[in-house]
Amino acid sequence: METFIQVAYLLASVSFIVAIKMLSSPRTARLGNLIGAAGMLLGMIATLFYKEIVRYEWIGVGLAVGGALGAWTALSVKMTAMPQMVAILNGFGGAASALVAAAEAERALLSSHPSSAYFLTTIGLSVLIGAVTFSGSVIAFAKLQELISGRPVTLPLHHYQSLILLIGSIVALVGYVLGGGRVAMYGTALLSLLLGIWITLPIGGADMPVIVAFLNSLSGLAAAATGFVLNNYLLIISGTLVGASGLILTQIMSKAMNRSLWNVLFAAVGKGGPAAAAADRSIRSTTPEDVALMLSYAKDVVIVPGYGMAVAQAQHAVKKLMDALSAKGIEVRFAIHPVAGRMPGHMNVLLAEADVPYERLYEMERINPDFPQVDVALVIGANDVVNPAARKDPNSPLYGMPILEVDKAKSVVVLKRSMNPGFAGVENELFFQPNTYMLFGDARQSLEALTQALKEI
Ligand code: TAP
Repeated sequence: METFIQVAYLLASVSFIVAIKMLSSPRTARLGNLIGAAGMLLGMIATLFYKEIVRYEWIGVGLAVGGALGAWTALSVKMTAMPQMVAILNGFGGAASALVAAAEAERALLSSHPSSAYFLTTIGLSVLIGAVTFSGSVIAFAKLQELISGRPVTLPLHHYQSLILLIGSIVALVGYVLGGGRVAMYGTALLSLLLGIWITLPIGGADMPVIVAFLNSLSGLAAAATGFVLNNYLLIISGTLVGASGLILTQIMSKAMNRSLWNVLFAAVGKGGPAAAAADRSIRSTTPEDVALMLSYAKDVVIVPGYGMAVAQAQHAVKKLMDALSAKGIEVRFAIHPVAGRMPGHMNVLLAEADVPYERLYEMERINPDFPQVDVALVIGANDVVNPAARKDPNSPLYGMPILEVDKAKSVVVLKRSMNPGFAGVENELFFQPNTYMLFGDARQSLEALTQALKEI
């Protein structure tokens, strides 16, 4: 039986690595996801054959309740609520790792054998990282779900308080490794829970994707630490994979914001109040018919999708507009910002769902030099990722974040419902430029009207 379990674990580990590789391209991502899920199932089945399991009743209850909840949330969650779901799942992963480690610690305390320093260290690390991940993820979830303010929240001398909590958690951990007592272990857990809250509260605005990726990485590290506690190779391998890929994603996200992880964690960017109201400045409001006319004269059109496209579920309407423009011989490309939407690859997933050919999708670095030659940049529900303040205004919370430079295009049309700001809560100078036209309304309805008008020309 032991051999069967180890072979199954090996196969599951291989399937995770293959899955991650396949997830890196939209073409193979769906299959990769299935392979990863199959590997997970195999790992779970193999684990059920452990000889140390004496009764299956509680495992059955856990599987039924957890499975039903997981299936229900996965089926009912809206695409726009994905980041919250990822955040809370990270949190559950961290909590599970900490709880398993704590249970092992209790078991060791009940047995008469003294525990090794190695064993106690792995338990302590698992409790510490797992607890930080759990509480941090709960706060991230609450911010993204708008249960609490999405803006940075800081107390006086906040970062010193975080530092004290970090040092306190480490001291308690060392105390646990040296003494192996309950007080030190639960003390580590309590201080780490507070640390997770303290680290996440000051993060806000456009920085949330970075912290969610970071917590994702921590959840992997917590699982790997628990793998060492249990001597479970599958947990060590899968935890390390999540930890490493989460860290790479954190780096990509930080780079997309042109910031270091340190700066994201400790700068409380976006704390300032909302930008001054723009009531007294003029904008140009337009109609679908006028935009259709403008597009019919264009040769080179770039579509910039953002979070609003996801809210309006306008991806299919975008594809229809692309088809209508292509039928008139107009070149249509899509400019994709790495943090457009609310999760990594959000725009890629939606456009792939609508069968927009992958070759038409251009990353920021590739398309930015072309904007001065672009006839019309069509901004569909994007805001922060096209805000020129990121380039021009050192006082803006977005300053320094690389953006899609649509303001350099010959004409810009922005589809959104109002003059409300985007995720970071800051005004967008782009809307007041002389070459920008605002097409107000729900993105899907505007696009349908636009495509209809274009066909009638
Ligand atoms: P945002 O800056 O959030 O702007 C989205 C815009 O869409 C809003 O200004 C909104 O304006 C408009 N909108 C909403 N519903 C709409 C609808 N039904 N029809 C038309 N427009 C609609 O989006 P973005 O430019 O994609 O930037 C993403 C932001 O989210 C960045 O700040 C990023 O850091 C942050 N973020 C990203 C992620 C990841 S990983 N991608 C995760 C968390 C946060 P109206 O209300 O006026 O319509």
